[in-house]
Amino acid sequence: MATKPRATADTDQVRITPLQPTFGAEIFNVDLGQALPPAVFQKIRSAFIQYKVIFFRDQDITSENQVAFARLFGDIQDYPVFRSSENPAMQGLQSKYAKADIWHTDLAWLERPPFAAVLRSRVIPDVGGDTMWADGERAWQNLPGDLKSQIDELSLVHDSSRIGAHYLDGEERERRLARVRELRKQYPLIAHPIAPTHPETGRRYLFVNPALAESIVGMSQAESKALLDRLHLEYLRPENTLRFRWSQNDIAMWDERRTLHYGVYDYGDKERVMERVIIAGTDIPCR
Ligand code: SIN
Repeated sequence: MATKPRATADTDQVRITPLQPTFGAEIFNVDLGQALPPAVFQKIRSAFIQYKVIFFRDQDITSENQVAFARLFGDIQDYPVFRSSENPAMQGLQSKYAKADIWHTDLAWLERPPFAAVLRSRVIPDVGGDTMWADGERAWQNLPGDLKSQIDELSLVHDSSRIGAHYLDGEERERRLARVRELRKQYPLIAHPIAPTHPETGRRYLFVNPALAESIVGMSQAESKALLDRLHLEYLRPENTLRFRWSQNDIAMWDERRTLHYGVYDYGDKERVMERVIIAGTDIPCR
């Protein structure tokens, strides 16, 4: 039987195990159901800034605990599509109504795209249903020089109306599409720099979005598509990705700007229920 994570009294107990040299880390000996001492929180926050995706196993906590943990990092971002009826600060992602089987980052069509998301697995299939992430900072670092120069000052238009409905049928599908059309009136197209600089690390990263991007400002659709295809290929090189196998009550927290993620849909009609809280972001710097 899995042991319950211990409450963390001091930072020495907290263990951070990187999954890759600069991307992804598992954090041990933390109980997110307890109030975190400030020094422990700072250790977690530093690991998050360093590794961009962090994982906590076996967190049998309440939805309120999950929201409280997210709130330590900033305000909660409302997400108007997948709201949970029990707790409006979170989105209930049930496999029947919400599939994420396309590389994306959430809510990039906001004027201030989110800072991060905290996802917890409530019900997972006995096999399958992993999530993958890709590292936008490493992707930028490894771009060929000519490509870096080409995109240095470019911006990409993000479009809320591309939220997926491909997995829905009939009335559900119509309802989702109507909701998304409404959303587009509230959140018109918005452009963000393709290679912003992270305000804390000073490092640049790729900020593209295969699911929700419209086109690059100032380019024809064909030129934009060709360049984006090339950037996506570079971004999604296996060296830039990690894949996480969920158990029940695991938590993943990821950077919504410096990473892309993909919910692997290989579990047929098995149930998969996740709960997500999104943390609001501040202005995105031009460069
Ligand atoms: C998401 O796209 O935020 C959820 C990913 C997942 O359910 O694996």
